[in-house]
Amino acid sequence: MAHQLLKGKRGIIFGALDERSIAWKVALDAVAEGAQIVLSNAPIALRMGKINELSKLCNDAPVIAADATSIPDLENLMTQGMEKLGGKFDFMLHSIGMSPNVRKNISYTDTNYDNFLKTLDISALSFHKVLQTAMKLDALNEWSSVLALSYIAAQRTFPGYNDMADAKSVLESIARSFGYQYGFAKKVRVNTISQSPTVTTAGSGVAGFNAFIDYAEKLSPLGNATADDCAKYCISLFSDYTRMVTMQNLFHDGGFSNTGVSHLLIEDLNKLNA
Ligand SMILES: NC(=O)c1ccc[n+]([C@@H]2O[C@H](COP(=O)([O-])OP(=O)(O)OC[C@H]3O[C@@H](n4cnc5c(N)ncnc54)[C@H](O)[C@@H]3O)[C@@H](O)[C@H]2O)c1
Repeated sequence: MAHQLLKGKRGIIFGALDERSIAWKVALDAVAEGAQIVLSNAPIALRMGKINELSKLCNDAPVIAADATSIPDLENLMTQGMEKLGGKFDFMLHSIGMSPNVRKNISYTDTNYDNFLKTLDISALSFHKVLQTAMKLDALNEWSSVLALSYIAAQRTFPGYNDMADAKSVLESIARSFGYQYGFAKKVRVNTISQSPTVTTAGSGVAGFNAFIDYAEKLSPLGNATADDCAKYCISLFSDYTRMVTMQNLFHDGGFSNTGVSHLLIEDLNKLNA
């Protein structure tokens, strides 16, 4: 049920590839809540994905290609986006992640450093580039909200997550460091949401992903947060009800991050040992 929480606001949603993408759900919810949005993804994702389908569901939202590692692409996206929507933005969602090492099944201890640098550039530095471009173009109104999506492998080791863990640590650090700068400069808030494992194209690429999902489901008192739940949390953070929240990594994981072990997992282990 929509409440027009984003009425009159304009935003950019990066990273909607298909209907499983977290960004896809955020785009639908943002429009239902009264926002006008621009959809963006890497040129290859626009060719292979279903973003035009999503655009139709979002009041024909403009679709503008941008490789998030390219400053000229980001400048073009924000300039064109402001022209098309008729003003500066109030929110942005960075929902972007990719590791060539994960894709090619190269283990962490055997990493390929060119791949590692690409992981960091695409999954972490691109967030800095989005923020820096927005600041230079003065593309965000005061009290805007910028979010990126993270994962708890930034704090604790999940071996299958590989170099994405390092990328998420950098991503969360950028939210703090840039959040400080943008807060003083323009009252713009910057946060990351640390989301439960979720079945999407990026998520499914991680080794042992199904076991990950089961484990997290059994450890979390509320169960795993779905992409739909995540979208609702994003909307609340884009809204004026969370104006004083900035420089945070916010766990959206059904309680996983604060649970050591659960009775469900103990029961499973007891069965195995019986
Ligand atoms: N799925 C999970 O379990 C999970 C859990 C926590 C956090 N996240 C994070 O959520 C975010 C969204 O991932 P998702 O799970 O919806 O998967 P997804 O595969 O649907 O989305 C990832 C997006 O990144 C885009 N992308 C890759 N390289 C890009 C580039 N150079 N420029 C612009 N866009 C680029 C892809 O095209 C894709 O749309 C990622 O940051 C991911 O790490 C996912």
